[in-house]
Amino acid sequence: MKLINTLLVLTVSSVIALSAQARDKRDYHEMVYEQGCKTCHDQGMKAFPSDNSCLQCHDMAEVAELTKREGHEAKQNPHDSMHYGQEAPCMECHGEHTKKQAICMDCHNFDYPKFK
Ligand code: HEC
Ligand code: HEC
Ligand code: HEC
Ligand code: HEC
Repeated sequence: MKLINTLLVLTVSSVIALSAQARDKRDYHEMVYEQGCKTCHDQGMKAFPSDNSCLQCHDMAEVAELTKREGHEAKQNPHDSMHYGQEAPCMECHGEHTKKQAICMDCHNFDYPKFK
């Protein structure tokens, strides 16, 4: 019985290891994958990338400008919000291999038509 359990654990963990190799990708990051997984995975393949890895290519002030809003919606800008300013880590909202939604939606119901 113990042996069977061990085999089962081994099988399950190798399936997980395999699926880590074939992960969902975002189309818009195709060229990043061409440079290799480590372009994003600056903390090793077993950890999430750091925010600095996104900031190699993106700039918070620039994305904040792209998602700027007017009037009473101004502070709904996810990249410059009333709670976090420009300090919220990208991965609180954006996923790469997983579907996510903006963390704001945990508590609000804003309209973010450009969210990916
Ligand atoms: C090596 C450069 C590079 C790295 C690293 C990178 N990106 Fe990108 N990203 C791009 C390019 C190029 C595009 C496509 C052009 C664009 O939309 O800016 C893109 C597009 C995006 C988009 C979609 C923009 C849109 O609506 O078209 C999001 C969201 C995004 N990146 C978030 C991230 C996050 C979060 C990280 C860190 C986990 C990250 N990126 C890491 C280069 C990079
Ligand atoms: C554009 C940036 C980017 C690239 C390129 C990228 N990843 Fe990721 N990866 C992420 C982000 C962001 C996460 C955090 C979870 C999520 O959003 O999917 C992550 C999470 C992971 C995890 C989960 C780690 C954990 O602690 O659970 C694995 C495994 C992984 N990536 C493997 C890969 C492999 C293999 C490649 C290359 C084929 C790759 N990644 C390329 C951004 C990237
Ligand atoms: C954990 C719950 C929570 C999260 C997550 C959250 N908020 Fe809020 N937010 C609140 C609460 C509670 C209030 C009302 C209290 C106040 O005005 O200080 C509020 C008020 C606001 C307001 C002013 C009132 C309104 O509805 O117009 C804005 C704008 C706002 N949040 C934007 C954001 C944005 C953008 C994000 C994501 C970056 C976000 N919030 C994430 C709980 C949250
Ligand atoms: C609090 C949640 C949140 C955080 C943190 C966040 N984003 Fe976003 N991002 C969004 C939402 C929501 C949209 C779509 C906004 C809309 O539809 O108006 C978006 C849109 C974008 C776009 C597309 C902008 C456009 O108009 O083409 C890019 C690129 C992007 N984010 C990159 C990033 C990067 C890089 C970081 C970290 C430096 C980051 N985001 C942090 C929620 C977030």
